[in-house]
Amino acid sequence: MSSTRLEQIKDEALKAFGSAANSRELYDLKVKYLGKQGLLTDIMKEMAALPKEEKPLFGKKVNEVKAGLEAAYTQAEEALRKKEIEERLAKEELDLTLPGARRLRGGPHPVAVVTDEIARIMSRLGYALRTGPQIEKDYYNFEALNIPANHPARDMADTFFVDDTHVLRTHTSPIQIHSLESENLPLRVIGTGPVYRCDSDISHLPNFHQIEALCVDKKVSMADLKGTISFFVREFFGAGLKTRFRPSFFPFTEPSAEVDCNCPICKGKGCSLCKQSGWIEIGGCGLVNPKVFEHAKIDPKKWQGFAFGFGIERMAIIKYGIPDIRLFPENDVRFLRPFAGE
Ligand code: PHE
Repeated sequence: MSSTRLEQIKDEALKAFGSAANSRELYDLKVKYLGKQGLLTDIMKEMAALPKEEKPLFGKKVNEVKAGLEAAYTQAEEALRKKEIEERLAKEELDLTLPGARRLRGGPHPVAVVTDEIARIMSRLGYALRTGPQIEKDYYNFEALNIPANHPARDMADTFFVDDTHVLRTHTSPIQIHSLESENLPLRVIGTGPVYRCDSDISHLPNFHQIEALCVDKKVSMADLKGTISFFVREFFGAGLKTRFRPSFFPFTEPSAEVDCNCPICKGKGCSLCKQSGWIEIGGCGLVNPKVFEHAKIDPKKWQGFAFGFGIERMAIIKYGIPDIRLFPENDVRFLRPFAGE
């Protein structure tokens, strides 16, 4: 009786294992037949009611069936797993031709690119690069540059004061004083780095960069200044561009001028960047004011000099037609990448 039941269970289980639709269903069947509370366990319990001499044989049969079912289960499971993988492979389309995620490489910032290029051009005329402190003594930022106590640049609205006697430098001109104090004459230096002003709109940043040149020698004239700037403009913006000077005022140069050059975008024909004028302002310049020499204990009767300075972001804006100065500190890689040499 029990033996017939055992055969029944075996056949039923083998059929069920063979027709399980997925591994989950198969596992449930394993629990049903082979589990601790499964049908085979139940049948083992029936063994107690059998006559003593039949017990070993029946036990052996149960064990055989159990082993057979376990093997059948393993086989069915293997087959189902294979089938499931094949189904998944057929269903999920993997496009192996898609390129992987590329790692972006870093590169120099446009401010660094322009600084390097200006320094390279000027080094051909014998100018060496200098930096100087960004937190500057009032004396170097203003006093020694002949900027008097009541000058508007000294207003809190224009200058970040660190304490009573220190400011975040508002321009790179204090580097001129450091060089005049510490270097031998004649002298040709470029001063560059970040500068700070309380100013922020579409064309002004509170933290931007300047670069300026200082030349000191026995006989230096406006002609030397103009020749040097013209050379620089042609090298930096392109051959054939003209330069012009407009009288201006800086406390540390006398005479002083604003420098314009032909707009490098339209080559002087007129466009939106130069507001149809064909000219674009690039910076300030002049001959070193004798008062500046006196502050640095240099005899203005023996030595003369010129200086000119530019905003670096502005130079990049003009050269590359960048629409908004605020792009520079944002560090958006879409803006930076073209400058990184990729
Ligand atoms: N320091 C001046 C400024 O920030 C620029 C300048 C530099 C002018 C050198 C003349 C000579 O506006």
